[in-house]
Amino acid sequence: MEVNKIYETKILRYNNEGLGVGIIDNIVTFINNALIDEIVKVRISKIYKNYATGDLIEIIEKSSNRKTLKCPYFYECGGCNIMHIDYEKQLEFKKEKIASIFKKICGIDIKLKEVNSYNNLGYRNKVVFKVKNDKIGFYKPKTNQIVDIRECIISDKKINDCLLNLRTFIKKYNDNKISEIMVRVCDNNVMLSLDKINEKYKDKFIEEFNYINSIYINDKLVFGMPSLNQRLNNLVFNISPKSFFQVNPKATENLYNRVLEYANKSDISVDLYSGTGTITMLLSKKAKKVVGVEVVKEAVEDAKNNLKLNNIDNVEFICGKVEDKIEKLKNLNVDVLVLDPPRGGSDKKSLKSILEISPEKIIYISCNPVTLARDINLLKDKYELSDISAFDMFPQTYHVECVCLLNRR
Ligand SMILES: C[S@@+](CC[C@H](N)C(=O)[O-])C[C@H]1O[C@@H](n2cnc3c(N)ncnc32)[C@H](O)[C@@H]1O
Repeated sequence: MEVNKIYETKILRYNNEGLGVGIIDNIVTFINNALIDEIVKVRISKIYKNYATGDLIEIIEKSSNRKTLKCPYFYECGGCNIMHIDYEKQLEFKKEKIASIFKKICGIDIKLKEVNSYNNLGYRNKVVFKVKNDKIGFYKPKTNQIVDIRECIISDKKINDCLLNLRTFIKKYNDNKISEIMVRVCDNNVMLSLDKINEKYKDKFIEEFNYINSIYINDKLVFGMPSLNQRLNNLVFNISPKSFFQVNPKATENLYNRVLEYANKSDISVDLYSGTGTITMLLSKKAKKVVGVEVVKEAVEDAKNNLKLNNIDNVEFICGKVEDKIEKLKNLNVDVLVLDPPRGGSDKKSLKSILEISPEKIIYISCNPVTLARDINLLKDKYELSDISAFDMFPQTYHVECVCLLNRR
């Protein structure tokens, strides 16, 4: 095999990131935008110790599962990665991916019925656009070059309406100094948060976007409401610019319902990595007392406001890192413990403490099956993986959200 040389190969499967896998000269080769069963021509881009990567040059035999693209930016933009695959096949890919990760990392054969799916376009409620002079969009993968986009079809219509006006503004005021704009939609209200702006355009920006419900510049509220309300699972959540909130509200609502089904009634529940306290508050319906732990101060403040907003009085929030605060929880008699860490998963110290706390049930929510399986591997001697559910929180991308129910053996 040689770099830059063109080879022909058949795509046998996908890797975890949805890249087509072919074997060329006995070397496993990952090929972007290639579908299973297709015969393709590939230009080798890099050869590593155990594998190679290649770019798709020509499709010799096309799969019937290849879709006509609705997004003109797909091949350039780094946002979506499997939009070229028929949506039903995307779900199949995610189901098989989860099963193979669990088999490989934990040696567990999981029984996953389906990947629950709701809306595969227009679902995203939050987007961070990159800006440079008069360009606005997303970075090309592995570069800081902006793909100038007019519409992002996986995002909420309100985000796209806003994008059109933002685009007009930055074209008109080319020396605007903005480098990043977050647009968030909660229950049809819109929040904008810019990292910076040329002082001479600040008032103009506020004037042109005075139909927006909340505008922040450089972390300071300059117009409208400090936070937005989002209704979900019969609760109201108050969300400020820095708070984490799931990006797909419909899938989230269903995921949270599954967490509640798994949780049952309890005396003391714990919600680790609690964000704005969404799951904590849901658990409060089924527990006498719930404790949430979250590192971001603003999210904890939102969470405390959310308690008042929903008249909940059996919840306590601890602000700090789980690994630092988990000791405190050992004195409680915790029966249900929920954890929903970021992509990197939890850490060994926290997982060891969870084993010492020894709750009857652990409910582990994760957007990364690899770190989920890695962490469950450390719990599996004491806990049985009783059920797993998957939710297509991020359609058109290779990502998938899982919820696992672990019962103490
Ligand atoms: C995937 S989010 C889950 C949020 C929440 N459960 C929800 O559904 O909205 C992960 C959260 O963990 C927080 N976080 C990250 N590292 C942490 C740590 N070491 N200790 C506590 N919280 C952490 C993040 O700020 C974020 O709010």
